[in-house]
Amino acid sequence: MSELKYTEVGKVKSIRGCIVVVTGLSSCINGQLVDFGFGTQGTILGFNDKEAQVLIVKEGTSIKTGDEVRASLEPFTVPVGKNFIGRIVTPLCEPFDGLGPIVPDENAAIFPPAPSILQRQPLHKTLETGTKVLDSMIPVGLGQRQLILGNKGTGKTTIVTDTILNQKHTGLICIYCATGKARSQLARVVQLFQDNDAFKYSIIVAAPSSSPAGQQYLSIYVACALGEYFMRRGMDVFIGFDDFTKHAWTYREISLLLGRAPGRDSYPGDIFYLHSKMIERACHYDKQRGNGSMTFLPIVEVLEGDLTAFVPSNLVSMTDGQIMLDAALFGEGQKPALDLGLSVSRVGTKVQWPIVKDLAGPMRLEYLQFRELKRVSKLRSGGQSDEVMEQLKSGEILTQLLRQGKDDPVIMEVLVFILYAFKWKLLHKLEVEEIDTFQSEIYKFAQDKNPEFLKKLRAERKTSDDIESGVKLILEDYIEGLLAKRQKDGSSDEIDIVSNIGKDVLEEAASEEARVDA
Ligand SMILES: Nc1ncnc2c1ncn2[C@@H]1O[C@H](COP(=O)(O)OP(=O)(O)OP(=O)(O)O)[C@@H](O)[C@H]1O
Ligand SMILES: [Mg+2]
Repeated sequence: MSELKYTEVGKVKSIRGCIVVVTGLSSCINGQLVDFGFGTQGTILGFNDKEAQVLIVKEGTSIKTGDEVRASLEPFTVPVGKNFIGRIVTPLCEPFDGLGPIVPDENAAIFPPAPSILQRQPLHKTLETGTKVLDSMIPVGLGQRQLILGNKGTGKTTIVTDTILNQKHTGLICIYCATGKARSQLARVVQLFQDNDAFKYSIIVAAPSSSPAGQQYLSIYVACALGEYFMRRGMDVFIGFDDFTKHAWTYREISLLLGRAPGRDSYPGDIFYLHSKMIERACHYDKQRGNGSMTFLPIVEVLEGDLTAFVPSNLVSMTDGQIMLDAALFGEGQKPALDLGLSVSRVGTKVQWPIVKDLAGPMRLEYLQFRELKRVSKLRSGGQSDEVMEQLKSGEILTQLLRQGKDDPVIMEVLVFILYAFKWKLLHKLEVEEIDTFQSEIYKFAQDKNPEFLKKLRAERKTSDDIESGVKLILEDYIEGLLAKRQKDGSSDEIDIVSNIGKDVLEEAASEEARVDA
């Protein structure tokens, strides 16, 4: 009886960039690992009767034609485990941070099928992103896939890093997957994580632009495999992919080298399949499988806000919503520069804190109406009615509230206070700087005054008379204190008490009017 042959030996026939054609691997399977010896490894991307096309994923010594190749009939796996938390790894799960070897718990396949329908449950928990405008109007649920789109330099990475920083108290495991980024950009994220102790619960998968194309291609799958390890153990995982555009570029490069026919924008035809298969791996496991979840925030860079380009429109169609960042808003200083007209979350509102949903529901429309009104009021000559003035002022306060600095996530309790303060028009009495002070101080104030109430708010999450009266008490106390302090400082006079907010818009309208009259 012939012996079962697990290892095959083949020969290198030709080399083209990162693609090596190998003969003699007669029973190879797609996606398996092949070893060229001396630290060089590759994975099989395609084959015909006689030859296999191998993508180099790790470069040791250079390869020559005629070299021997060994392949074992096993799918490609990477080591995973809890010891990876706090580390920066390559897409082969090797240390990238120089902190020594990592002891893995097991090996996981990097191309497993996505969980089936029966293994999943509907989303029912919210991901606290810490970005006010997201948590209030474009909420994301655990297990959701929410795309971040935007031009270059519009704050895409910041949304992902803020989300990671905000998980300090939630117990989520965070993975930041950097594909095709410059090392300096990666270093900035690493520094940020170090400064904020985020490495206690985070992993970075790094495939910078200088790494082999094979590694950049694998990075997103490996980040997923690492996340799945924790998800199988009932934990909640968040993965930010920065970014899918670079991944698509890498795959296009590989496909062209493989000689596959280019399609639209020279991308290969299967790029949609490739991405959708990966995106499907986000899920919320049911109770029998431990209730774990995996949430994705993939980033895509668009050119000049063109949502209809091939890769962005593909990804829009396969995710559960998108966050569109607008370069013009970013330029105006409205950061995060969310375009609320084009951003949408298709499942998130179902899992939002009910109290936030009640409060923020009408706000989105109000904000969009305000922007329209502001635009129109610039063109309009003649005086504005009191109603319009009131609306403009409210809108300016809202705009101010939706602004948020980077690396400064806001927790849900604070968001509830802010939303109530806006609803009850308590902020109308304050000046711009005071609104910022209010936002940064209210949590500490509430904690000093009534820590039990904050716990209750987090536990209940629903609107009730009890909660409303508790919030009211704290807010009124705080604002009274602030106004009293202002009076004591003597820094304000009658005119200052009339808020400055909205003044610029009104002045602009007035000057326009004067010009027309003249
Ligand atoms: N909310 C914010 N407040 C203040 N500054 C911000 C904010 N968001 C982003 N920035 C700043 O804007 C710049 C670009 O941000 P970021 O790197 O997140 O954008 P990006 O879209 O990921 O850029 P790239 O396309 O280069 O990857 C950074 O210098 C960042 O510090
Ligand atoms: Mg970025």
